[in-house]
Amino acid sequence: MKILVLNERDMRSVFTMKDAIQADKDALALHAAGESNIPLRANLDVPEHNGQSLYMYGYAAKANALGVKIVSTYPDNINKGIPSVPATMVLLNSETGETCSFMDGTYLTRVRTGAVAGLATDLLARRDSKVFAVIGTGGQAPGQIEAVLTVRPEIELVKVYDLNMERAKEAAAQMTEFFSGKFPAKFVASQTAAEAVDGADIITTITISKNPVFDGRLVKKGAHINGVGSYTPELSEIDEYILINADKVYIDTSDALEESGDFIKPIEKGIYSADRITGELGALINGSIIGRESNDEITFFETTGSAVLDIVTAQRIYEKAVEKGIGQTIEL
Ligand SMILES: NC(=O)c1ccc[n+]([C@@H]2O[C@H](COP(=O)([O-])OP(=O)(O)OC[C@H]3O[C@@H](n4cnc5c(N)ncnc54)[C@H](O)[C@@H]3O)[C@@H](O)[C@H]2O)c1
Repeated sequence: MKILVLNERDMRSVFTMKDAIQADKDALALHAAGESNIPLRANLDVPEHNGQSLYMYGYAAKANALGVKIVSTYPDNINKGIPSVPATMVLLNSETGETCSFMDGTYLTRVRTGAVAGLATDLLARRDSKVFAVIGTGGQAPGQIEAVLTVRPEIELVKVYDLNMERAKEAAAQMTEFFSGKFPAKFVASQTAAEAVDGADIITTITISKNPVFDGRLVKKGAHINGVGSYTPELSEIDEYILINADKVYIDTSDALEESGDFIKPIEKGIYSADRITGELGALINGSIIGRESNDEITFFETTGSAVLDIVTAQRIYEKAVEKGIGQTIEL
């Protein structure tokens, strides 16, 4: 069996953020149309090491995409200088069931998670958005920032905030260097979350917080918010005020309702109900539900991540790598 091994450099060389946004768009459209088979991921606790190991697998026939991503969340890793969300993607040939590629799942996660929030931002945020706030500057943050700037390149100011101020400052400096010449935005580290979200047209939360990361009443009219960090019932970043008062609420897939504390906690308290959700982003893409209707509306998008994003994005990366002769082939 021949397996194409792709590292981050290989993946970056054949696949752009724009490609990733398109792959996520196609993946969510297929999912909403009932054209994918995505079982709820299996989560294994590893309490001895404050970790969790997740097995995300699925099949989407129309995208020729079949595979599994093994992804872990070890929140203490960030202090060891290694990713908190390390992963490996195993892609299969859907015609034979043989493994055709191993790829860097850590990078895949970053790019497809940034891309899905970028996609939601493209579909829901005001066209004239100028200020973007990012709460949480860990491993996922650069992908989140690149994706939003890709769909709203006219953004003038990106304010980043993290509980760890040094990390926020480093992120602002790194982003300034990384995106110099590519996007005109200025990057600054805010002292508080309130300062970051003040006046923001687009807000993304990407933390491991168990409590709301900013006061929902600070959100300005017309803003769009992406909730990206919460993926278990315990984790929640979004103030209930936002859920209750947003004009439209979208999710990547309905798994978000079973997995994210941002929904589970207010639903359990009886102050929110799932029938208030506008719908899945894929349904918006497919034209079966509506999007933003005025410049004053507040829109909210929650993603907990789905294997459909991983398998479709990974298959596209693999196809491009094969076409361009990139990567190393090993034989098992
Ligand atoms: N939705 C998805 O598909 C998806 C994909 C990947 C990761 N995630 C989740 O996103 C979260 C972040 O991932 P990461 O790889 O960036 O983690 P990370 O550990 O690298 O970074 C998390 C950052 O959040 C900061 N933080 C924690 N609480 C905060 C608060 N209240 N205010 C501001 N900053 C705060 C930490 O200081 C840290 O810098 C994790 O929970 C991860 O599981 C979700």
